[in-house]
Amino acid sequence: MMQTELDLFNPASPAEPQWIGKQAVVLPGFALAWVETLLPELRRIIAQAPFRNMVTPGGLNMAVGLTNCGALGWVSDRRGYRYSPLDPLSQQPWPVLPGALSELSALAAAAAGFADFQPDACLVNCYKPGTRLSLHQDRDERDYSQPIVSVSLGLPAVFQFGGHTRSEPTQRVGLRHGDVMVWGGADRLRFHGVLPLKPGSHPLLGSRRINLTLRKAG
Ligand code: SIN
Ligand code: FE2
Repeated sequence: MMQTELDLFNPASPAEPQWIGKQAVVLPGFALAWVETLLPELRRIIAQAPFRNMVTPGGLNMAVGLTNCGALGWVSDRRGYRYSPLDPLSQQPWPVLPGALSELSALAAAAAGFADFQPDACLVNCYKPGTRLSLHQDRDERDYSQPIVSVSLGLPAVFQFGGHTRSEPTQRVGLRHGDVMVWGGADRLRFHGVLPLKPGSHPLLGSRRINLTLRKAG
């Protein structure tokens, strides 16, 4: 692909914020400047706490590969969903939350109108082509006044942003490598999900999408 085309499709400079709710915004390219710092951190996290397919309380295997970093990590098993200070695979604390990720998420949260965001948990999701994440609410955190900050890396995805009930219509939002999305306040408990990932290969991450969601869980 020629350089001019690359520039057109992967703008190096962030575009205007797109508000998709009263307190929900996509910040296109917001994380691009951090990618070089984040990728080695991500490798360290995955080496210490590999992606695994968790089981839902109903006994279904989740298609998305999951791991965590931070003081708390989100886990699912036959007993339910919860945040845990230990990785159930290793019985060790989760990998440390990279400083760059706390910084980036606090800046993104501030841009969305949430001051002093201090995440203590980061759920890392890995999607391969065909993998989807069905509609759900993020409601296992203690304090809903704190937003969710999501950082997308690798292959592009279509994010579904719904209402406060599962049956409400959803907006479709394209999330690309380097995009950051923040939702909180009135939009904090909106249903959301990810449509099946389209096949492709990303120059830095290969045939997958990695999404990091930063939360104040405890
Ligand atoms: C999530 O809802 O946990 C992840 C959303 C995403 O992958 O964009
Ligand atoms: Fe979620």
